[in-house]
Amino acid sequence: MSTTVTAPTPSSDALIERMNWRYAAKKMDPAQPVPEDKVARIVEAARLAPTSSGLQPFELIVVTNPEVRARIREIAWNQAQITDGSHLLVFAAWDTYTAERINTMFDLTNQVRGFTNEGWENYRQMLLSSYPQRDAEVNFQHAARQAYIAMSAALLAAAFEGVDATPMEGFDPAQLDEILGLRARGLRSAVIVPLGYRQTDGDWLVNLPKVRRPLEQFVSELR
Ligand SMILES: Cc1cc2nc3c(=O)[nH]c(=O)nc-3n(C[C@H](O)[C@H](O)[C@H](O)COP(=O)(O)O)c2cc1C
Repeated sequence: MSTTVTAPTPSSDALIERMNWRYAAKKMDPAQPVPEDKVARIVEAARLAPTSSGLQPFELIVVTNPEVRARIREIAWNQAQITDGSHLLVFAAWDTYTAERINTMFDLTNQVRGFTNEGWENYRQMLLSSYPQRDAEVNFQHAARQAYIAMSAALLAAAFEGVDATPMEGFDPAQLDEILGLRARGLRSAVIVPLGYRQTDGDWLVNLPKVRRPLEQFVSELR
């Protein structure tokens, strides 16, 4: 079978249309909070995201407290979306993989599915014999990559809901960990996403075209 990768017609593809609509909003309207049912569906999309071995090695902290968000803004390049939006999603990855964390997820799988499986148990032992022995930083970096997958799901869900969401690495992770007490919970911040509604009159980016490399420079085919 041979197919050719071609760009979709935006109007014929609802998901692509929403992805063209979304952008990393620079100015959010402080007077327009995101309804809780929309936030719940965005969080659910993050929860449903696939992760390596299904370990879900991260937690999501939804910060609405205005004082806490003001403090976070100070250690995040003073980015106004953090306080102008209504919710701040903090994706916090496990600081390492432990046997307990791995076992908890495998046990949960067995409990939810109602049976144990030899292949699955062998796979558990394989992870137990490698992950916990690795350097904690290697494990955190692996866990953070999984958190980014969930962040991406949240961004798409936000676009689907007509909610603006700005992915952010522009913050001091050590200070954010301190503000939220993450280290004591075995977590480290990976990436944050304020949710809100774009304030078009204050946003230099809103009317600029989206910039992506052309398809032919992005994808190649091996047939
Ligand atoms: C992991 C990640 C970190 C980012 N960090 C920031 C940030 O700190 N502040 C910001 O305004 N935009 C940030 N961005 C937004 C990107 O600059 C933006 O997604 C990119 O330029 C593409 O533009 P678009 O999202 O508007 O389509 C980040 C994006 C990603 C995916």
